[in-house]
Amino acid sequence: MPDTNRTTTRRRVVVTGAAGRIGRALAGPLDERWDVLRTDLPEAADAAGIAPLDVTDLEACRAAFADADAVVHLAADPGPGVSFDELHGPNLVGPYAVAQAAADVRVRRLVLASSLHAMSALPASVQRRTSDQPRPGNLYGAAKAWSEGLGAWIAATTGTSVVALRIGYFSEQRPGPDTLPQDRTAWLSTRDAVELVRASVEADLPAGVDGFVVAHGVSANRHNVAELGATRRDIGYVPVDDAWSEE
Ligand SMILES: NC(=O)c1ccc[n+]([C@@H]2O[C@H](COP(=O)([O-])OP(=O)(O)OC[C@H]3O[C@@H](n4cnc5c(N)ncnc54)[C@H](O)[C@@H]3O)[C@@H](O)[C@H]2O)c1
Repeated sequence: MPDTNRTTTRRRVVVTGAAGRIGRALAGPLDERWDVLRTDLPEAADAAGIAPLDVTDLEACRAAFADADAVVHLAADPGPGVSFDELHGPNLVGPYAVAQAAADVRVRRLVLASSLHAMSALPASVQRRTSDQPRPGNLYGAAKAWSEGLGAWIAATTGTSVVALRIGYFSEQRPGPDTLPQDRTAWLSTRDAVELVRASVEADLPAGVDGFVVAHGVSANRHNVAELGATRRDIGYVPVDDAWSEE
């Protein structure tokens, strides 16, 4: 017999950059779990339920985030080779407006898409740890370090807690031997991306981190450029895919 008296309160979660590659991959599974408001630039908003939101517009961010439990901020120019002028709006002003707006309207959890490019000046042979300070090897990575800094600032000064995801190499396809080693060892699969965002939104952060956690966005790759023990512990992320698996 169904329990007709049962009431459920679903989280309201706003996703920015939802029309992008990672945003589209998250859409189905997370829509089942939460009330998701998917947003992107007006030109990317379409009949598939994406609302217009330019993340460089602070007032518009405040309006979109009102009553949200969490914001998952994906919107950016994701090209590691882009210029300062190209980065300025989406990757510098955008994270500021998103972080400020999330704190202003008292969002409980802000999840920021950072990148392992924030660490790309470290030698390739050195496994990345979430406790490593940013060591960007390009301007895109430096902008991601700025975004992480904004997250740490908001967490330290407001009631909004922040998880910054140093994402590796997202791909729907499992990388094979022909894939560059630096991409294969940083692979993030679609189902692990869903699990990563689920954990980032739902986790109770450990005591002592002051509401700010850096997490690694990679799958459980046998050979992994990024150490996963701290991320498993801090946010309860349970990845299942391996770039070296035969399945
Ligand atoms: N794909 C990867 O392998 C990877 C790796 C590391 C980090 N990341 C980060 O993850 C996030 C998502 O990456 P993706 O691969 O889905 O990128 P994507 O380019 O496919 O999607 C980004 C989305 O952001 C939107 N956007 C750009 N400027 C905007 C603005 N001013 N306001 C609102 N929306 C705007 C674009 O329209 C686009 O739909 C990015 O922050 C990226 O830097 C991705």
